[in-house]
Formats: sequence, structure tokens, C-alpha cells
Amino acid sequence: MEVSTLELNARDIQLELEWFRQVLDTRIKLYFNNESTHSSIFDITPPDFSNSESNYGKLVSHYPMSFSERVILIMALIPHVRPNMFDILYTKNENFNRGFTEFGGINGKYHGGMLPTGETVNFILSGENLSSRFQLRYLFEDDHYFHLHNILHLEPLEKGQGEPKLSNVLNISEEYLSLLTTGKPYKPDYSTNFPAKLITTKLEWKDLILNDNVREEIDEILTWIKHGNTLMEEWGLNAKIKRGFRAMFYGPPGTGKTLTACLIGKTLGLDVYRIDLSMVVSKYIGETEKNLANVFDQAENKNWILFFDEADALFGKRTSTNSSNDRHANQEVAFLLQKIEDFNGVVILASNLKGNLDEAFSRRFQSMIYFPLPALEQRLSLWKNAFNGNLNLHSSVDLYRIAESHELAGGAIINVLRHCALRAVQRQNHEIHLRDIESGIRKEQRKEGKA
Ligand SMILES: Nc1ncnc2c1ncn2[C@@H]1O[C@H](COP(=O)(O)OP(=O)(O)OP(=O)(O)O)[C@@H](O)[C@H]1O
Ligand SMILES: [Mg+2]
Repeated sequence: MEVSTLELNARDIQLELEWFRQVLDTRIKLYFNNESTHSSIFDITPPDFSNSESNYGKLVSHYPMSFSERVILIMALIPHVRPNMFDILYTKNENFNRGFTEFGGINGKYHGGMLPTGETVNFILSGENLSSRFQLRYLFEDDHYFHLHNILHLEPLEKGQGEPKLSNVLNISEEYLSLLTTGKPYKPDYSTNFPAKLITTKLEWKDLILNDNVREEIDEILTWIKHGNTLMEEWGLNAKIKRGFRAMFYGPPGTGKTLTACLIGKTLGLDVYRIDLSMVVSKYIGETEKNLANVFDQAENKNWILFFDEADALFGKRTSTNSSNDRHANQEVAFLLQKIEDFNGVVILASNLKGNLDEAFSRRFQSMIYFPLPALEQRLSLWKNAFNGNLNLHSSVDLYRIAESHELAGGAIINVLRHCALRAVQRQNHEIHLRDIESGIRKEQRKEGKA
């Protein structure tokens, strides 16, 4: 029987915990000059995961992780998988009738056991050795893969200032916690800390109706996603062009901008995350930058496509600086543009604005794609696709004539379909009459102020 990822993870983490227990025991014995089988913690060989099939083992072998890095990883996991393992560090320092400062660790609000801090890591890995303590700092720097790949961080439990960095708590990311335990890839939910939402579509590439110009431009994005790495690395273009790909989709509502972004992701097996900029920019909460940075960090490691919707919110805010709100919004916009420019993956912005994009914007984008209202030929396909399901068109309906006489976008046509289907179900049949379609169209025209 095939062993599940979860079982494999459990098996390897169990082995790692047993190893870590010996490391911890030995450190304590050595620190208090008690008798110990090992003269250094580094003599205790960690389990060999070179042929492991677990996510845990594969992660360890991938980098490959050093002794110290493995100690840190398992320590970050312990509060989640074996919370009592650090209890021994609650030992009292009899001289002062309190815990040992050098053990670090803090109590959570609700968590029963000790939450390890950077100081705890230092105690275990360095004891009182200062040069080793200094070297340890590197493992928590921003350019270490722990941080770059969003595996774990040292984070303050609460916002405090002036505390030494090593008093921050060792925190594994939700993403890796999930991967290393249940084995389920983690898909973050929308929240204030994570202002992005996974978007998907049930439609397929063949359902997308675009004119040839737009299609050609979209093909360029697909080609970049497929071959960008080869171009940058093997063809050596990385010295000459910026990483990543930035596209702007603009045009009237309902012309397929969001759908196209979804389908690019679906076709290439990449997740598409939508960030609603009107939400992000209008709420001048100081946290916005941190939250956006969070999205970019996660996206970069996972090949997500970032889809910034309602990008108009960006353009308006850049000129007037009357109030402090405006200034703040301006700062946020500048920050966001910088992030977009530095991002290594694909970013798509969508907006309804036509023209008037200042040059500062346009030169940042590799492609500016205008999604026009569909021409007759495309409208006909949209109407045909919309009504090809379990609905019967009454013989009075001539879709060509309808497509010809009304300039509607795909989104509006889908709304007409919904309207007609509701009518049909009220009549308890599947038949669509010309008057259903016509009243649906009038409704759409009223919405657009054209009636
Ligand atoms: N070009 C198209 N091809 C096929 N279907 C389309 C097209 N345009 C729109 N549709 C249909 O209309 C729906 C809405 O379109 P979509 O959300 O992609 O429009 P949009 O351009 O993002 O609009 P908005 O500017 O309002 O965000 C789609 O889910 C799809 O069913
Ligand atoms: Mg849209």
C-alpha cells in the first residue's frame, strides 16, 4: 500500500525529533558540566534523509541544510508537533530564583509550552561561544533562504521596540507548516494580512474570444512564462533586461480582462492571485505596505501570477497631495510600483481607463494590451457560446441579427444569458424566446446608460 505524504512526514519528523532531543540533552549537560557521551552537539549525526520521500526529508536534502539549519527548522516546528519538548528549559536558575536568561524562549498567550526564541537557538547551537553567536545572525538575515523562501522567521510576538532581535520568536510560515505536516500545499486565504485572493475559472482557453491583435499580445506573455527562464539564464539576457514580466490590461468592463488572466494561469498550471487595489490604496492603514510585501514574497517563491485589479486606483492618486491621506497614498503607490518592478514573476494590472497613462507608468510595462469591445464576428461567437448549453433557442431567435444590432461586451452577454435562463425556469421549460433576449439586452443598456 502506498504510504501517504502525511505518514512519510510524520515518520521523518519523529526521527528528527529524536535527534534533536539528544542535541538538547547534550547541550544542557555540557553547559552545566555534567557527564555527557558527546563532547560536542555537532558529534550527534542527524538522520540521513538523502533518499527520503517525505516533504520534510526532501526539503532538508534540497538545500541541503546544515546541522544548524536543521536544528532551527525542527525547533520552529516543535511548538506545533511536540510542544512539551522545550519544558526542560523551564528549569529554574536557583541563584536568582527565576528562569535562565540564556535559554531564551517566551510563553505564548494560550500555548502551554515554551515558544523558542532566537536566544533559545543560540543557546543550543552556540552555548556561550561568541563567535558562533555572531555567525548565527546570518541564518536570520533577509538574504538567507529561510527568509527568501518564506520558510521561517524571527518575529516579535507583539510589536515592541528596542528588544534584541534574538528575543523574537522563531516562527515557521503557515505554508511550510502545512507542507511539512499534512503535506497539503498551502493556499492562503484572503485576510487583512494577505490582501489577495486566488481566482479561478471554469471556462477553457477555447471559450476565450479575442481579436487577433490581443491574442498575439497574450501569446507573448505565455511564451515568456514558458521560456523566460531559458532566455534569462541560458541566453544570458539577465544582464540586459529586467526580471519578470509586467502587463497592463485596459479597456471597457466585461471585455475579458479578468478571464484572460485566469486562463493564462489555468493553461500553464499557475495560481492567479487577485489584489483589489481600490481596497488596498483607499485604506491608508500603515500596514498596507507590509501586507503587500507579504503577498509579493509568497508569490515570488511559488510562481504565482499577481493580478492587480482596479488599477485605476493607482493613477488617480499620484498627483494631488493636499492631505496627509493623499501623501500616504502616494507613498503606497510608489512602494507598490517599486515592488511590481522588482518582482521576478508575472504581474498583470487591469483597469478600465483608456489613455492618459502617464509615461512613468507605461515604460514599466512590457505590454499594454487594450481589450476593445468585441466586433461583430466576436460578438456572434460570444452569443453562440453563451447559449450552447441546455437551453433551446426558439426558432424566432437569430443570433447573427442580435449580434449585429447590439454592441455588447462578453460580460453583458453573460448577464443576458442569466436573465433569459431565469425567465425560462419561471416558465418551467428550457426555451429561450426572442423577447427574453431583447428585454435582457435592454436591461444591460440601461445599466450602461444607453437606453
Ligand atoms: N473576450 C471574452 N471571451 C469570452 N468570454 C468573455 C469575454 N469577455 C467577457 N466574457 C465573459 O464575461 C465574463 C466577465 O468578463 P471579465 O470579468 O473577464 O471582464 P473584465 O474585462 O475583467 O471586466 P471589468 O473591467 O469589469 O473587470 C467572463 O467571465 C466571461 O464569461
Ligand atoms: Mg475584471
